[in-house]
Amino acid sequence: MSQTDLLNIVNRPRRLRRTPAIRSLVRENTLTKSDLVFPLFVCPGTNVREQVPSMPGSFRFSIDNAVKECKELWDLGIQAIDLFGIPEEKTEDGREAYNDNGIIQRALRAIKEAVPDLYIMTDVALDPFTPFGHDGLVRDGIILNDETVEVLCKMSVSHAKAGADMVSPSDMMDGRIGAIREALDDAGHSDVGILSYAAKYSSSFYGPFRDALHSAPQFGDKSTYQMDPANTAEAMKEIELDIMEGADIVMIKPGLAYLDIVYKTKERFDVPVAVYHVSGEYSMVMAAAEKGWIDGDRVMMESLVAMKRAGADIIFTYYAKEAAKKLS
Ligand code: PBG
Repeated sequence: MSQTDLLNIVNRPRRLRRTPAIRSLVRENTLTKSDLVFPLFVCPGTNVREQVPSMPGSFRFSIDNAVKECKELWDLGIQAIDLFGIPEEKTEDGREAYNDNGIIQRALRAIKEAVPDLYIMTDVALDPFTPFGHDGLVRDGIILNDETVEVLCKMSVSHAKAGADMVSPSDMMDGRIGAIREALDDAGHSDVGILSYAAKYSSSFYGPFRDALHSAPQFGDKSTYQMDPANTAEAMKEIELDIMEGADIVMIKPGLAYLDIVYKTKERFDVPVAVYHVSGEYSMVMAAAEKGWIDGDRVMMESLVAMKRAGADIIFTYYAKEAAKKLS
């Protein structure tokens, strides 16, 4: 008796998986280089390129080397970066954040001069700029909202003056998107966009990033401003508010563990959706790969396309360079 006598299976989905050609014809989502944003850490000094201990393959760059890195990124086809800075000095008022000659402002001018078409976003939050490691100003152990928003406005305008294409407030203070929009417009920067970290969870996946920027909170955690990982409706509310206040793009963060939020956001709102494949997600893959337990490159590429499948238009990832090489 032959197999066909035994079984009469009409629907055979495996037909569409038989060869690479047919698989690529029916592929529903594709990762491209133009989806990627590379987060770049800038530190004081010259000729610095030091590996972040908890992020193998990820570096802190002094401005001169950051410029070189940006040329490489551009040549690889990465068109956008997000700048994070380690200031020369941390003060309780976080004033280095809006110093027109601060680390980010100088980096902006240097990179814009060398790679003028690279789209530069800048992180707007105070955590690296005060000794407390919190995203806002601190008084008596409380993270202040409105006082922080005023500083974030000054910081955003200072970044815009130095050449930022878009500011990315990652602080989760209430009302900051509307205030920053108004401050930018009043200063004549109506063409500078805002990517809002709209639904940013209070997550332990950020550990290695805080190592990279020397910005771990010195007391408590960030749960009075970042969101409870157990919540969904709250994310929808945060996103709606930020869009109403003028966010051009909204971000969900972290990535893989929050793809349900990405999916829901994409279904519900008509703005570009970004997702941040954060430091802890990166480091876990790198660590397991170093041990030979998983194929790190394949796990990274699978993670990135999963983010696209969930609905992300834009992906922030430390793996951007390697991904771009694989996509070439
Ligand atoms: C801080 C900020 C954080 C990240 C981006 N901006 C850390 C935090 O909120 O503590 C995390 C990025 C990452 O983990 O890769 N404003």
